[in-house]
This record gives sequence, C-alpha cells and structure tokens, in this order.
Amino acid sequence: MHASPLHDGGGRVAGAVIVLHDISELVRLEKVRRDFVANASHELKTPVTAIRGMAETIIDDPKLDPGKRASFIEKIKNQSMRLSALLADLLTISHLESEDQRSAETPIIDLREAVSVPVEEMAPQARERGIDMTAILPDSPVQILGDMDMLKRAVINLVDNAIKYTGKGGKIDITVAQDGGEAILEVKDTGIGIAKNDHERIFERFYRVDRARSRELGGTGLGLSIVKNIILSHEGTIDINSEPGNGSTFLLHFPLVSPSS
Ligand SMILES: Nc1ncnc2c1ncn2[C@@H]1O[C@H](COP(=O)(O)OP(=O)(O)O)[C@@H](O)[C@H]1O
Ligand SMILES: [Mg+2]
Repeated sequence: MHASPLHDGGGRVAGAVIVLHDISELVRLEKVRRDFVANASHELKTPVTAIRGMAETIIDDPKLDPGKRASFIEKIKNQSMRLSALLADLLTISHLESEDQRSAETPIIDLREAVSVPVEEMAPQARERGIDMTAILPDSPVQILGDMDMLKRAVINLVDNAIKYTGKGGKIDITVAQDGGEAILEVKDTGIGIAKNDHERIFERFYRVDRARSRELGGTGLGLSIVKNIILSHEGTIDINSEPGNGSTFLLHFPLVSPSS
C-alpha cells in the first residue's frame, strides 16, 4: 500500500491518495517456486541416498552374501534410472520455461504424426502388460501450429500414464479428430480412475494420488504438469473425465490451422 497526502492551493492537507496493489498472485507464484525447489531437492535426495548407502555396504563388506550383493546392485541400477527419469523431466520443464512465447515461425505439423509415432513406440509396453491399445486416426492430415517433439512428449506422458494406471486386460483408445476449427485428441483408458477431488491437483508438479504406487511404477509426479505446460504453449486446453474404478479420459483441444492461412 502506498499513501500520500493531497495538498490544496494553500499548502494545507486536503485529502489523501491511497494506492493498493494486490500482490496475492505474486506471493502465490513465489511460494510455488519455493515449493518446487524444495520438492525437487527432496525427490533427488531420496535415490541418491539409497544409491550411496548400498554402494557403501558393498564396498565395506567384502563377505556380503552374493545374493544380497546382486540385489543391491540391481537396486542401485533401478535408483539411478529413477534419477535419470527425474533429471530428464526437470530438464524438459526448464526447457519449456525458458522458451519464449510461440514464435511466428512455429511450423504447421500433422497431429496424427505426434500421436502415431509414440503410440507405436509404446505398443510393446502395453502388450507386455496385457493391455489392448488402439489408435484411431483420420485419413487426412490434422494441421496445427506446433512443436512436434513437445507434442510427442505430451502424448508419451499421457499414454505412459494410461498404461501404468490400467491393469491387465484393460483397454486404451487414442483418438485424433477434427471438429469446428479444432483438433481433438483423446486418450481413454479403462484403468483405476481418478477421484474428482484430484482432477485439478494431478496437474501440479510432484502431485500423485498414490505416491507409493507411482514410485513403484517409476513415476516422477511431473508427467502431467509437463503435459499441461505443453498444451498451454500450443494455445490448447486439457480436460479430464474420470472417476475411481471407471477409467480415465484425457481430452485435448487445439486450434486447427484454417485452410486459408
Ligand atoms: N490415466 C490415469 N489413470 C489413473 N490415474 C492417473 C492417470 N494419469 C495420471 N494419474 C494420476 O495422476 C498422478 C500424476 O500423474 P503424473 O504427473 O504423470 O505423475 P506420475 O509420475 O506419478 O505418473 C499419478 O501419480 C496418478 O495418481
Ligand atoms: Mg506419469
């Protein structure tokens, strides 16, 4: 708050001007940033501590039971993979944040390609878990302005979740369509679903409905926050339709490139 007296012609105080600035958003953003650094440090510390502890045990105890030794080495490998996944996600976030607004030279891309390539790559993963995954793409190109690598990343994160949170015998349908000036991408699974209370929160960095389960499945808790960032930088929207036990649908909309442009 800033306040100053108002003087009249004779130099007497005749009133005051008070200017109020609403800094709630600034304070909130500062808190988000602080929390992010704290959470990221904590998430990084956990695997590093585990790796160090197991490596030290192997070094310090030459008579360690071979079975135990092998299991420690396996765990060191798993923890370092977890660390790699975290660092990769953090780098993506930093890349997304450092990127300027969408530049004029953003190329026209075919949304079908941003979907078909990752879906094909992830098909073995789905098959391995006994999940039937199908992509339904239109015959003609679905043109939007965008960054192909980033859009593929968003699709990978959504399909990765669909696979992880859907059990054996489940089904995943990925559909691309266009309607009334918009490109539509839908990722639908028959998995565990998400309670209404969590619909907003799952897009927050490091938020997981079930922390232990996500960890066990190799999740970082950053996937959907990255998806949301990518969608917003493409002037798109993301909606979720889900309830526990009834699967989840993530619905994305992007502006289509109009035929005249
Ligand atoms: N398709 C889905 N079905 C059920 N739950 C999901 C799905 N996608 C995301 N979630 C929930 O949202 C949380 C955040 O997702 P994400 O940011 O990708 O992190 P994670 O690394 O845990 O996958 C997940 O931990 C999970 O609880
Ligand atoms: Mg994920």
